Amino acid sequence: MVSVTVLGSSGGIGQPLSLLLKLDPQVSSLRLYDLKLSHGNATDLSHIDTNSSAAGFNTAEIALALKGSQLVIIPAGIPRKPGMSRDDLFKINAKIIKSLTVQIAEHAPDARILVISNPVNSLVPIVYETLQSVGKFQPGKVMGITTLDIIRSHTFLVDILGRTAYSVDKLKDAVTVVGGHSGETIIPIFTDQKYYRRLRDTRTYESYVHRVQFGGDEVVKAKDGSGSATLSMAWAGYSFAKKLLNSLHLNTAGDQHPIPTFVYLPGLPGGKELQKKLNTSVEFFSAPVKLEKGIVVAVEHDWVDKLNEDEKKLIAKCLPILENNIKKGLSFSKDTK
Ligand code: NAD
Ligand code: LMR
Repeated sequence: MVSVTVLGSSGGIGQPLSLLLKLDPQVSSLRLYDLKLSHGNATDLSHIDTNSSAAGFNTAEIALALKGSQLVIIPAGIPRKPGMSRDDLFKINAKIIKSLTVQIAEHAPDARILVISNPVNSLVPIVYETLQSVGKFQPGKVMGITTLDIIRSHTFLVDILGRTAYSVDKLKDAVTVVGGHSGETIIPIFTDQKYYRRLRDTRTYESYVHRVQFGGDEVVKAKDGSGSATLSMAWAGYSFAKKLLNSLHLNTAGDQHPIPTFVYLPGLPGGKELQKKLNTSVEFFSAPVKLEKGIVVAVEHDWVDKLNEDEKKLIAKCLPILENNIKKGLSFSKDTK
């Protein structure tokens, strides 16, 4: 049984994510933390007849929200409005993430940390640097959540191929997403080349890649100033958390289908091999990982050998952008010590 804390639990993502966690039989204690409404939402959720408890914590109570928590999920921070890039969120969200990480280091140093807040490419390095500076960084326990890109890659593929001919479940093994979580750092890669050839033959490959890379913009535009993806993100965040919770019972890393997440490569088995194969010094990257006992135990790199020429070009475009995003996070963190 697992204690889970959601930091930013009253937001557009935080509320539906908390609901999904309240329904999960593996969660025993759900703690909601936000600047507002956390007690109210916890009372509301606590009436649901599942076995977990739900408790709310306000800013004075963050230590209690974190103490003993095994999994901390962070959707705290501002979302985009039309015309903004994820990078435009950096100034505000970097400070939020940094201050929350300081609290995690003090009150839940052994928790797994899932970062949803944007820009993921720069905020995960802040979490890394903040924990590292107090000797609390554990490479397998810090993950940036890129699952929404993967979910979109499946949905948008079935949108092209046709829902009557294909079920989305069938396509879940056809494509995944690596790289980072913004624009051209988001790279769909085909694990089943048959579908890649199909898109190439029907001249839909470029528009497909563009839609996966800029899918977030569709939602920001449609919400017209009220925010970005929340419901699909809650589902994505929960799907990743569920994989992690399932892995708590696994003794061998090979028992589970790898899932991409944004991690610190040099600290993980397979990470340096991946850097070598990609011919890069970029230290954070979203790649398929194996989870065991709720932590990342290995980064996959075999997929690099199978990339097609288009995917190699996408990776080449992604790496310098990612490198800048990461540098921005690391220097913020060092400068604000
Ligand atoms: P929102 O504004 O609806 O909610 C954010 C919540 O964070 C609010 O309730 C706010 O009170 C809270 N908050 C702010 N500062 C806090 C602090 N210091 N401590 C605790 N809580 C704090 O925003 P949202 O739509 O839920 O989005 C949240 C973040 O998630 C944004 O940065 C957004 O860009 C990002 N996001 C990421 C992905 C992804 O794929 N990783 C997808 C969608 C959105
Ligand atoms: C997304 O991909 O939907 C999120 O990162 C939110 C955004 O700003 O697009």
